Amino acid sequence: MGDGVTCKIGPSVLNADLAKLHDESKRLVDAGADYLHLDVMDGHFVPNITFGHPVVKCLRAKIPKTFFETHMMVSNPDQWIDPMADAGVNQYTFHVEASEDVNETCRRVREAGMKVGVALKPGTSVEAVKEYVDVADMVLVMTVEPGFGGQKFMSDMMEKVRWLRENYPALDIEVDGGVGPSTIQQCAEAGANMIVSGTAITSAPDPKDIISTMRSQVQASIDKLRVQVEV
Ligand code: DX5
Ligand code: ZN
Repeated sequence: MGDGVTCKIGPSVLNADLAKLHDESKRLVDAGADYLHLDVMDGHFVPNITFGHPVVKCLRAKIPKTFFETHMMVSNPDQWIDPMADAGVNQYTFHVEASEDVNETCRRVREAGMKVGVALKPGTSVEAVKEYVDVADMVLVMTVEPGFGGQKFMSDMMEKVRWLRENYPALDIEVDGGVGPSTIQQCAEAGANMIVSGTAITSAPDPKDIISTMRSQVQASIDKLRVQVEV
C-alpha cells in the first residue's frame, strides 16, 4: 500500500437500536471508531428504508466532530447531495449503478464540500470504477448485497479489492458487509484500509475490543504491503 493509506474503522449503526441513534453513535465513537458509516436507504435502490438528511442533521448537532460518511443506497444520488452537505456530512458515497453521470455526480459532491466515495454492488465489475478512481477519494467494494445488516460476507469480492490495491496503492478502499473478527484478515490481506462493520461491533459486549483487534490486523497488512512496495 502506498504512503497515503491508513487504517480507518467506520462502524455502521444500521443494526444498532435506532431509537437511540445518538447514544449508540456516541458509544461507537467512544469505543474508538474513526468515522461513522451512515446507511441511507430509499426503498427503491434497495428493498429497505432507513433514514435521511433530517436525521443526519440532528445527529450532527449532537456529535459535532466525528467524520460522517453516508452510504447512499438511493436511486437518485444527485438529489441528496446538497441536503447531506447541509446536514454536515463529510463523505458522500454513492453507487455507480445509480448515477446517470458518475463524473458529474463526483463533481457535484466535491463542489458541495464533501469527499467522494464511489460504491460497487457485488454484481458490478471493478472495471466499472476504473475511469472514476482519479475523481473519487475512495472506492467502496460491497461484500454483501446492499439493503440489510447481518448478512454473510462474500469472500469472492476480495479479488476486486486486490485489483484496486495493486493498481492504486494510495487509494482509500472500503469494504462493507459481513465484516468482523472472522472476516477481517482476508480484507486486510487483500488491501482494504477503510473498514465498515455493523453487527459485529454493535452486537459485541465490548465494541472497543473488536475495533482495536480489526485495526491492528489491518495496520499490520498496511505496514507489510508498504515494506514490499519499498523494497
Ligand atoms: C448494507 C450496509 C452495510 C451494513 C453493514 O446494505 O451498507 O453498511 O449495515 O452491516 P454488517 O456489518 O452487519 O453487515
Ligand atoms: Zn453501508
